[in-house]
Amino acid sequence: MSLRAPVSRSRVPVHASAPLLRSRRPWVEHWLDTCGDLQALKASHPMMDAVIDEIDGRMIRIGDQWLADFASCNYLGFDLDREIIESIPAYLDTWGTHPSWSRLLGSPVLYEEIEARLTELLGSEDSLVLPTITHIHMSVIPLLAASGTIFLDARAHKTIYDGCQVARARGAAVKRFRFEDPDHLDELLRAERDPTRLVCMDGVNSMTGNAPDIRAFAAVAREHGALLYVDDAHGFGVIGERRPDELCAYGARGNSVVRHCDETYDDIVLVAGFSKAYSSLLAFIACPTEVKDLLKVAAAPYLYSGPSPIASLAGVLVGFDVNERRGDELRRVLRERTRRVLDCLHRLGIHTPNQSGFPIVEIPLRDDRRIDAVGRLLFERGVYVTLAAYPLVPRDEVGFRVQLTAANTDTEVDMLIAALEELAERGELRTEDEVGFVLTSSDR
Ligand SMILES: Cc1ncc(COP(=O)(O)O)c(C=O)c1O
Repeated sequence: MSLRAPVSRSRVPVHASAPLLRSRRPWVEHWLDTCGDLQALKASHPMMDAVIDEIDGRMIRIGDQWLADFASCNYLGFDLDREIIESIPAYLDTWGTHPSWSRLLGSPVLYEEIEARLTELLGSEDSLVLPTITHIHMSVIPLLAASGTIFLDARAHKTIYDGCQVARARGAAVKRFRFEDPDHLDELLRAERDPTRLVCMDGVNSMTGNAPDIRAFAAVAREHGALLYVDDAHGFGVIGERRPDELCAYGARGNSVVRHCDETYDDIVLVAGFSKAYSSLLAFIACPTEVKDLLKVAAAPYLYSGPSPIASLAGVLVGFDVNERRGDELRRVLRERTRRVLDCLHRLGIHTPNQSGFPIVEIPLRDDRRIDAVGRLLFERGVYVTLAAYPLVPRDEVGFRVQLTAANTDTEVDMLIAALEELAERGELRTEDEVGFVLTSSDR
């Protein structure tokens, strides 16, 4: 960031404005203003920027307080799985802790094995792995968009937005379509004259916990010659292909939203990661071999970034085995734990946007100004959640997000349910009846 910009816009002579600027620090103040609520929470709240001193299963200790962790994204519990933990040292003995070549230079054969097994699991033409989804968005979105037009889901994840910003800096145009609204996308694409079109959106949404209607979006994209780019960070490993013998409505094999919606990969690029359901630092893009070959020479992280540690590569490979043998049973347990929480909210008449039954349950507050107090009550009752404060979410969606994992016990879910009952009793949570008549601090 150039610190000179405010000076050159000022009409005050540079020599006179310099001390004033030093004391005002406008580049800091702008952000403190925007992130003030979050900054205040971070500075004082035990559930923000916390130091976790110890874990025991899905219980975590912060200072003297033990809490049931409902903020983990380790949906299948692979982070605590004995079979996975005990398999990793043999990989370290063979490969050391870290490869440290950029992928263009060379990759341990583990990468080939991962990409082959992943491609088979997804049923895609090919796949390429890179360290994180953020790396993929920042490098692949600008490549696929070129100097064309990106149609961006208005509620897409921040990392997709950032990828689109890089694309814009390289000459692409960005237009936003309304969340969960394929008709609006259709309208925008119909009016567009640019022949290069990329549609970017989330799979399972990280706040609502719902999946988009991929079939409807794919149909619109195909009709208008656009490529659909989907980030299913939260769906991969959790939801998968529907089968008559599936153990629960999440589907089978955890092979992500495209298969869950019974779509093909024609004109669809799927991006997701192993850092949530598979508990390993690695991410992937499922794409045609032609695109993979292009990415190997044009996507910066393949050329310049360091690779994932061996423990993560091993975690993914052993994770594939565990997924094939026990994954569907773990997903059944995950579905059951989630169902208990959703049933509780339903019984209490408390609103959540979750209509899918997937394990992300956002619970908005009646009064966004109560976020600090509500978070403290949850902390005192031994329940750890993600606080969704402004500006992480719009003010009328301020609340907290609960994530279930297969490693959460029924006793931990009991603790969560007791805390939800208490918050509902105190009138802190928004009821179903109030939805549509939302009060925020600005209109109170
Ligand atoms: C939808 C979505 N996309 C991308 C990311 C970032 O993933 P990564 O840590 O692999 O960069 C997240 C992280 O929470 C996410 O929820």
